Amino acid sequence: MKKNRTTRFDVPVGQLTEEQASSELCELAETISRHDRLYYGKDQPEITDAEYDALRRRNNAIEALFPQLILPDGPSRRVGTEPAAGFRKIRHAIPMTSLENALTLDHMGKFLDGVRNFILELHDRNISIELVGEPKIDGLSCSLRYEKGLLVQGLTRGNGFEGEDVTANVKTIKDIPRQLPGKGWPDVLEVRGEVYMSDEDFLRLNEQQEIVSGKPFANPRNAAAGSLRQLDPDVTAHRPLRFFAYAWGEVSTPIAQTQWEARHKLKEWGFKLNEPSTLVEGIDSDTTTLSRYYENIHAQRSSLGFSVDGVVMKINRLDWQDRLGFDSRSPRWAIAWKFPPEQAMTLIRNIEVQIGRLGRATPVANLAPINVGGVLVSRATLHNRDEIERKDIREDDTVIIQRAGDVIPQVVAVVKDRRPVHSRPYAFPTLCPVCGSTLAREEDAAETYCTGGLVCQAQARERLLHFVSRNAFDIEGLGEKNIRLLYDKGLLRTPVDIFTLEDRDRHSGQPLSTWKYWGDTSAINLFDAINRARAISLDRFIFALGIRQVGEATARLLARHYLTVRNWCESMEAAVDPDSDARKDLLSINGIGESMAKDIVSFFREPQNQEVLNKLCSPRDISESPVTVRDFEPMKMASPVSGKTVVFTGKMETMSRSEAKARAERSGANVVSSVSRKTDYVVTGPGAGSKEKEARKLGLTILSESEWLDLTGKV
Ligand code: IVH
Repeated sequence: MKKNRTTRFDVPVGQLTEEQASSELCELAETISRHDRLYYGKDQPEITDAEYDALRRRNNAIEALFPQLILPDGPSRRVGTEPAAGFRKIRHAIPMTSLENALTLDHMGKFLDGVRNFILELHDRNISIELVGEPKIDGLSCSLRYEKGLLVQGLTRGNGFEGEDVTANVKTIKDIPRQLPGKGWPDVLEVRGEVYMSDEDFLRLNEQQEIVSGKPFANPRNAAAGSLRQLDPDVTAHRPLRFFAYAWGEVSTPIAQTQWEARHKLKEWGFKLNEPSTLVEGIDSDTTTLSRYYENIHAQRSSLGFSVDGVVMKINRLDWQDRLGFDSRSPRWAIAWKFPPEQAMTLIRNIEVQIGRLGRATPVANLAPINVGGVLVSRATLHNRDEIERKDIREDDTVIIQRAGDVIPQVVAVVKDRRPVHSRPYAFPTLCPVCGSTLAREEDAAETYCTGGLVCQAQARERLLHFVSRNAFDIEGLGEKNIRLLYDKGLLRTPVDIFTLEDRDRHSGQPLSTWKYWGDTSAINLFDAINRARAISLDRFIFALGIRQVGEATARLLARHYLTVRNWCESMEAAVDPDSDARKDLLSINGIGESMAKDIVSFFREPQNQEVLNKLCSPRDISESPVTVRDFEPMKMASPVSGKTVVFTGKMETMSRSEAKARAERSGANVVSSVSRKTDYVVTGPGAGSKEKEARKLGLTILSESEWLDLTGKV
């Protein structure tokens, strides 16, 4: 039974040489992962729990003494943070979006103006707006699906469209009812809220973490995320997680008429709510009541017992929430009003320049580590050369830094009277620190770029990292260290190489499984993750390519417009000609402007990008594609305008233009800004001009506002 124990327990950890420690960590990784497979995979453990725990403790003790030897895929990495194999991904019935952030009262005023302009009668009759205020909890959001009152599914937010299936894990959280009490709940009810950890529980857990693994969590939010995203729900069960409910997703029948009333319902159904909350009445242009609540929560921040980074203000009336709907990123009916960033003073040890995937050279300050609002900060971005000159930031300077939420910490100011006498202004390098090519700056632009292109290893590696990142191809096991390793060994150069890696590995004299720190399991896990990633949706695929200015939201706009990878690629190739119909079509997409269109077609103009695209999904020879790009699936709706292309021109009379567009999009229509042969409907109002003329010339269907409303019905 114990024949596989290969560790040398006889040498006390403190007496190990670095070489011994390194070889023992490799052995432990192999042994532990073998026992994991026997236990989790086959249900046939060969050792007792106590013996298994002893192996892990030994591994953790060695890692604590030799942190430089920690294996990228070693046992502590697998259970402590990211799971080795992924969670199943499931599509959200209704996307889980994020919130727009406001940092000032002025921004809050603009938010209210936006609501007023969107819902016309509010503007015209100066009707007051009621808002619900809640603390903004810093945890991770989760969607809980109840069918006939029974908890059937728990999903993380994921990328907002697809979440990870953490059902078994959420069932271990005491604040989450498995069966809803009472009655009156809809048959289908998705409760959304935040999984978090209280300050006290976080401190206690971190004391244990420190002893067991020597790696405490940076903050309560990371602790909550790390604890929920455990492959073994038993581990989650032993973590002190809690849950606040604040919203809902799919519901089979409406749950209330106002947000305030909905909160009461959620409470009746057994959920805890974020408190202290408020119902602010009678707001017109006056924001004093809002500020009072904000200041009040800010003042109580440290005594609430959980981490709060601002307040969330939501329009109380749910019929208005429905009308306001969502833009591509967030709801128009809610806003997060964040607390000001937390600041601290520390020393800049040195400044280095990092090269991003598009070649941008970003100066970064390495700091004497400092705790800022509960997070240990050791680096801060200096943005660009101008910023360094403007603030006269130098190595060895004492500086004030600040961090706000997830944003990378920044240097606010230099404490000049602490500057050492020998100090010299920072000389921005003229050559790329990675490939030695010239660092160039376009006229009138603040940014400096490495001109090395594909020659620059930093750019190539960053591009690969983006390609495999969570919201792109999502390949676990290909983190920074492994990309660097495989790149340096010449095995990975372009994204295409990822998908041929296993084949090449099989025929190689020195397969990955024989590499130092790797072993069978990590190689198998990596190839499994790569194979799982071979099918990808069009929006993720476009995002993965890393085209300048094309983030997730833009990638989705493109996917929705072009529907198939073949259509998209062919249209973009045609759009390279600035006078082509294809370019006009690209520019007609709401949200795509001239500069973005230029960046997209520049990407297509590069032969090496064309080659990667052709090899990846061979739009002309599907059978040989290493990846399958799934067609974009427009929401299937019974609406007669679903999938149709619509242009609005002139003034709308019964609603604002924004509301008209939002309604059309909600019924599945594609709203574009210019008229072409591909346009299905042109909706006209008073003041319509050239677009209406063009539509007549092309013989398109022209509708008045009321005809359009008759066609779409009440949405
Ligand atoms: S409402 C449609 N209310 O903050 C969006 N979110 O930065 C519904 N959060 O993704 C979200 N406290 O994870 C809402 N009282 C609260 C919240 C809250 C924390 C989180 C949530 C959201 C993120 C946005």
